[in-house]
Amino acid sequence: MLNFEYFNPTKLIFGKGQIVRLAELVPAKARVLLIYGGGSIFRNGVYEQVKEALKHHEIIEFGGVEPNPHFETLMKAVMVAREQQLDFILAVGGGSVIDGAKFVSAAIKFEDDPVNLLRGQIQITDNVVPLGTVLTLPATGSEMNAGSVVTIAATQEKLFFAGPALFPQFSICDPGVVASLPPAQIQNGVVDAFTHVMEQYLTYPTSAFLQDRISEGILQTLIETGPEVVKHPGDYELAANLMWCCTMALNGLIQNGVPTDWVTHLIGHELTALYGIDHARTLAVIGPNLYRVMFTDKKEKLAQYGRRVWGLKGDDINTLAQLAIIKTIDFFHEMGVDTQLSGYTSDYAKSADIIVERFEQRGWIAIGERQHVTPDKVREIVEASY
Ligand code: NZQ
Ligand code: ZN
Repeated sequence: MLNFEYFNPTKLIFGKGQIVRLAELVPAKARVLLIYGGGSIFRNGVYEQVKEALKHHEIIEFGGVEPNPHFETLMKAVMVAREQQLDFILAVGGGSVIDGAKFVSAAIKFEDDPVNLLRGQIQITDNVVPLGTVLTLPATGSEMNAGSVVTIAATQEKLFFAGPALFPQFSICDPGVVASLPPAQIQNGVVDAFTHVMEQYLTYPTSAFLQDRISEGILQTLIETGPEVVKHPGDYELAANLMWCCTMALNGLIQNGVPTDWVTHLIGHELTALYGIDHARTLAVIGPNLYRVMFTDKKEKLAQYGRRVWGLKGDDINTLAQLAIIKTIDFFHEMGVDTQLSGYTSDYAKSADIIVERFEQRGWIAIGERQHVTPDKVREIVEASY
């Protein structure tokens, strides 16, 4: 097992009717910036619950954070927070709203141009405005991690930034919010969380036995519950299991002491930036093709995944690994998610060129768990996804 340091300060409050806890969690004297998205919170009752819980607090609202949040929009929130001297941020929404709020939290006191938070590869270690969240969409794990992804609309760049100061102080996760989600967003959540586990698990065999078993447990639970939640979004127990899987998939626990990949995400972010495809769907397009192109590197772990997660039988590693990829694609299809780029856009012909050029410019020329994913491999993976 590799050495590791595990730090996760987010207080997670999970369960039915827990939004009332905001009253005690948000400091009484705080001047709160309430950040939300396109308005789903007004239609599913979440906004009323938040306002009721915070009826004695001072709140300024900022809505309109779009999916794949834009730097340009978030800078307007930064201006509001600076002008009104707000000192606490409450994000009420899915991964986009929470990621956007993390950016605002870091940008308010940032003395340099805030675009450098995204371009400068700076670790955010301090000088942030404290953040709490009410999660409305189980998917990203952003409610319990220290990462954020923001799009610069002007240049179609989708950039990741992170740092320990970005952990939310608390996150309220009430699985009841799943009831109002459109099927496509539940499908996205399942595939996103599934791929988060794969990025931390599907590398090469290590002696991290517990991490493997936890990862396999999350994958199996997603396989069991994912299609059912789409059919029965109002089933609280199913929703609770999905929500906990999504948080556990990316709160840092399963990556401790193991190699990680993340190339599916790096390429996927480019496809969202270029074509506006939902985050999770880009992962369904890229993941299986990455496993195929990097087959030699990943086949032992693919075979383990095939045996333990899918119950495949047999001794031949190559056959098991290939079947495991097919099982993964079948599962994404069962979830209602297309796995070819042509299913989302007809304008993909130049995507491999653009992505390879961007990766080279950023110095991403040897990535993945063994640094074997070179620009040639990136091209092969993207072209295989057409
Ligand atoms: O904007 P509103 O009106 O709230 O509607 C949203 C949005 O249209 C809607 N929605 C959310 N909760 C709802 C609801 N509709 C009905 N009922 C509810 N309870 O769902 C739509 C999508 O929301 P969004 O927040 O964009 O989805 P998601 O949670 O999948 O977040 C995706 C973003 O997170 C980033 C992605 O790149 C993408 O930008 N990620 C963040 C990560 C992180 N911080 O760790 C890791 C991930 O890999 C990912 O990259
Ligand atoms: Zn993701």
